[in-house]
Amino acid sequence: MAHKVAPSILAADFSNLQSACNIINHSKADWYHIDVMDGVFVPNISFGLPVIKAIKPHANKPFDVHLMIVEPDRYIKDFKSVGADVLTVHYEACNHLHRTIHAIKEEGMQAGVALNPHTPINFLKDVIQDIDLVCMMSVNPGFGGQSFIEKTYGKVEELKELILKTNTNTLIEIDGGVSSSNAEKLIEKGADVLVAGSFVFKSENPVETINRLASISH
Ligand code: DX5
Ligand code: ZN
Repeated sequence: MAHKVAPSILAADFSNLQSACNIINHSKADWYHIDVMDGVFVPNISFGLPVIKAIKPHANKPFDVHLMIVEPDRYIKDFKSVGADVLTVHYEACNHLHRTIHAIKEEGMQAGVALNPHTPINFLKDVIQDIDLVCMMSVNPGFGGQSFIEKTYGKVEELKELILKTNTNTLIEIDGGVSSSNAEKLIEKGADVLVAGSFVFKSENPVETINRLASISH
């Protein structure tokens, strides 16, 4: 299966999000990656529901919403109503992960679970069959523009093994420090979705950068 590319608008110019939408719409990107930070789960605040609602009418691709917030259960319906298609919660933020995953699916969204770099893959072994996507953090969440953590490759391999063993269709998404220098190896190890923020939006030609990430083969 061809991999997907999900540019993160966290690295876009917030004073002109319509331009970020145009870039993503007219590129080979598959999804919008949308990072919501609450200043509690992570030491940064990004944006929330009203901003997502505002950009939805300008977007022509699904919204992959990454919640870096505590108590995500409180907002599942709200994120559905502003246009989330994939809703990802953090393993570390959920006491009742199985319930949360099913609440997301009941709203008609795909359910994602994000893992911080320190969280072992095998913590997902009893829920992997319920998850549509695992977002593997390859940086500590909270900020764009950080360096890729090399240990991620081994974790991708381990997760791929678990997915194959349990015969599920769960997608592996990599988030943080993704660029042309690690994309190919990540795909080779089993990555299905590449999130890229700074590498795309700080580049000279973001559409071309997205298209290059999309056309990588291994
Ligand atoms: C980090 C966010 C990422 C971020 C990635 O907490 O979850 O999605 O936007 O940005 P880059 O690609 O710049 O590391
Ligand atoms: Zn993210």
